[in-house]
Amino acid sequence: MFAVHLMAFYFTKLKEDQIKKVDRFLYHMRLSDETLLDIMARFQAEMQKGLGKDTNPTASVKMLPTFVRAIPDGSENGEFLSLDLGGSKFRVLKVQVSEEGKRNVQMESQFYPTPNEIIRGNGTELFEYVADCLADFMKTKELTQKKLPLGLTFSFPCKQTKLEEGVLLSWTKKFKARGVQGTDVVSSLTNAMRKYKDLDVDILALVNDTVGTMMTCAYDDPYCEVGVIIGTGTNACYMEDMSNIELVEGDEGRMCINTEWGAFGDDGALEDIRTEFDQELDLGSLNPGKQLFEKMISGLYLGELVRLILLKMAKAGLLFGGEKSSALHIKGKIETRHVAAMEKYKEGLANTREILTDLGLEPSEADCVAVQHVCTIVSFRSANLCAAALAAILTRLRENKKLVRLRTTVGMDGTLYKIHPQYPKRLHKVVRKLVPNCDVRFLLSESGSTKGAAMVTAVASRVQAQRKQIDKVLALFRLTREQLVGIRDKMRVELEYGLKRDTHPLATVKMLPTYVCGMPDGTEKGKFLALDLGGTNFRVLLVKIRSGRRSVRMYNKIFTIPLEIMQGTGEELFDHIVQCIADFLDYMGLKGAQLPLGFTFSFPCRQASIDKGTLIEWTKGFKATDCEGEDVVDMLREAIKRRNEFDLDIVAVVNDTVGTMMTCGYEDRNCEVGLIAGTGSNMCYMEEMRNIELVEGDEGKMCINTEWGGFGDNGCLDDIRTQYDKEVDEGSLNPGKQRYEKMTSGMYLGEIVRQILIDLTKQGLLFRGRISERLRTRGIFETKFLSQIESDRLALLQVRKILQQLGLDSTCEDSIVVKEVCGAVSRRAAELYGAGLAAVVEKRREDQGFEHLKITVGVDGTLYKLHPHFSRILQETVKELAPRCDVTFMLSEDGSGKGAALITAVAKRLQQARREN
Ligand code: BG6
Ligand code: BG6
Ligand code: GLC
Ligand code: GLC
Repeated sequence: MFAVHLMAFYFTKLKEDQIKKVDRFLYHMRLSDETLLDIMARFQAEMQKGLGKDTNPTASVKMLPTFVRAIPDGSENGEFLSLDLGGSKFRVLKVQVSEEGKRNVQMESQFYPTPNEIIRGNGTELFEYVADCLADFMKTKELTQKKLPLGLTFSFPCKQTKLEEGVLLSWTKKFKARGVQGTDVVSSLTNAMRKYKDLDVDILALVNDTVGTMMTCAYDDPYCEVGVIIGTGTNACYMEDMSNIELVEGDEGRMCINTEWGAFGDDGALEDIRTEFDQELDLGSLNPGKQLFEKMISGLYLGELVRLILLKMAKAGLLFGGEKSSALHIKGKIETRHVAAMEKYKEGLANTREILTDLGLEPSEADCVAVQHVCTIVSFRSANLCAAALAAILTRLRENKKLVRLRTTVGMDGTLYKIHPQYPKRLHKVVRKLVPNCDVRFLLSESGSTKGAAMVTAVASRVQAQRKQIDKVLALFRLTREQLVGIRDKMRVELEYGLKRDTHPLATVKMLPTYVCGMPDGTEKGKFLALDLGGTNFRVLLVKIRSGRRSVRMYNKIFTIPLEIMQGTGEELFDHIVQCIADFLDYMGLKGAQLPLGFTFSFPCRQASIDKGTLIEWTKGFKATDCEGEDVVDMLREAIKRRNEFDLDIVAVVNDTVGTMMTCGYEDRNCEVGLIAGTGSNMCYMEEMRNIELVEGDEGKMCINTEWGGFGDNGCLDDIRTQYDKEVDEGSLNPGKQRYEKMTSGMYLGEIVRQILIDLTKQGLLFRGRISERLRTRGIFETKFLSQIESDRLALLQVRKILQQLGLDSTCEDSIVVKEVCGAVSRRAAELYGAGLAAVVEKRREDQGFEHLKITVGVDGTLYKLHPHFSRILQETVKELAPRCDVTFMLSEDGSGKGAALITAVAKRLQQARREN
């Protein structure tokens, strides 16, 4: 009995002595709570640094955005392939995520070796090897005939700009294949798979193993928002608020951040706790100076740390009676599994003896106790450090959510965590001590990270399918060069039709003679009134033209025309106009003045002279009754008479295109075309009199108002008109009319966009499938909004803000789609304009028999002026479709009022000349 007690006493004493000895020797590895709190605070600062746009480049903890935005919601389904590369084992898997609401995942997998010559050889060979394994797997599982989406778990730091791309920042752990760093892993693997012609695999997602782990666990526990790996390497990811991720646009919702915490300390932040053993281990590693935190923690390094310590202790005579075995000198001889075995609760000591003996040592009882304690200190330090960093993440989550207490789940994986007998318990305990205000559940990922990767892939494949639907819609608006050439040629035919007496009555492009026969010659002078009706603004102007100097002074006032007047009776409309003139004269102090007036009236009018214009039909937003078929000059005169306050001499009625051409022609004599890309769409140009069969005479030229907005009204554009164009047409004031205008001008582009958005929403591809009242409202997308949305300088957030102002509650993804839709619609408009204009300038070139034509086009209209890309695309298209014409575009700065006044001046001069004769 006494002997037993004595033995026990002896052993306890021995144990105490050994532990004390080791503790003394490794005191630097034992971290106090205070130190851990300090490390936790440092890691919090590191995270902040990694998230900041300006600070990220120099941050050692990279905080990589993963483009994984949500945890699984159970709606994921389908069959996926998965690769899991970078941990201790390389696996290929098939994952079946089942439908019908039941959370059910089935996996079949196959392990493949990763020989050193492959993972440290040539990058191309590494990817070929991976492709070979995948091909082998598919063959054995009879999957070759299927097109399957693939999720790639790739457990290295990758910079992502989207889910299906990842540029390797640096190899870590055991890998070091050449020529891979700085390149996109997904495309390398895709390329490598090309050699297998019968494999149809689409890599839809690249995820880090931490992300895969988090997603795997989140599939079972929706509280899971952190993923931690303590295996060959160590790392963590967590869900961060988008508003804190400065490297990714958008501030809505959350995105998973791969912290790459293994690199914590690479900038020297942990020097105070690193020991000589850490330094020595680092120097002998594949990546010296890198992953310093990882090297104090993870499975690849723990055994080695123990070996280095034992060696040093033996050298110092503290172990094995000062004897060292040669095996103890060999790098990698002690592995993490040994450390785990030595720390086993009951068999630990026996295991230690066996392991040391295998190393060629002859350990005493005391040695075994000491070595076991060395292991404990090393693995305890590992758990402590992990706990400190994890505590920092949990605190961040809690603060992001502004909670007093956080309830959360951490998904865990990695061999060290899984096989070490004490590790999980220690880690959990320390975490709970460091963050007492978090209720943390640790959930072991039983099925590795692939299940989670499949979830991410499932979401990506749904997004891809949606993307395809969106692309299908946008493709309807893409015109090929052949189509554009076809449109140019059709326009040319229509121009000829409208000019010919026989075909004119049926022509849809009306080619209206304007009786404007020459450009201003600079001798014009006098004071004129001008009206400018039909564009965005109604204006009354006073224009003073000074002869000789080609200078003009203008005063104008903008008036609004209320909708009920635009669409009321003709009398009301003209009375309103006269009221505005009266106000203007009053305002200018010109009451009673009898001035010649030029009337810019931007609607199709049949003219028999410069001062007569019968409105053929209203276009755009006007629909006043009793005007069509009437002479608008007469209507204006009668309204003036009705008011009986002043008299005006209405000398000319001009279309806005003509006014624009004149405005520009005053400065550039080459200007023979006037183009409006505004509320409406139209063009005028100088035509040879001999071609104008409707007007007597063959000499000289006359301006023709083409009214090309009606192009296509005979169905000749039906092959490119989309269902959206038809819907816009049907909802317009003049269904069936002005089809080209409705595909090109400001008043309708926004409407086309709105129709597309409604359709995409119906298909569940936008605005969470909800069609709001605002979206049902006609006219919300004015040209100015389209122009703003498409501005390149605008960040996504600003686009979202504009949409919000329009009453559309959009996510950032929605905003991207809306911007694309706007882009497709406005591009088509600009190209159609270009095709139309090419027809005209080509006609002019041919008619004059020129090899090359130099011509200036005067342009006006809010679409042309405000839109960021419209003018460029229009110009490029003209160049492409009329290569022999050198077209200069001249923006009309002063509007068409000036041109109208100039026309009036010329007409007045001719009038007087006639009278004098
Ligand atoms: C596995 C995961 O379970 O754990 C891998 O499927 C991950 O994706 C690995 O890389 C990490 O642990 P270890 O110990 O294999 O590096
Ligand atoms: C103005 C002209 O500058 O542009 C008007 O003065 C013309 O005559 C108008 O109708 C066209 O653009 P919008 O965009 O106002 O229809
Ligand atoms: C290394 C890798 C990291 C990975 C971790 C665990 O730290 O850099 O991406 O998550 O190992 O496998
Ligand atoms: C409409 C009108 C046309 C005008 C154009 C631009 O197409 O019919 O006359 O020039 O809009 O305002």
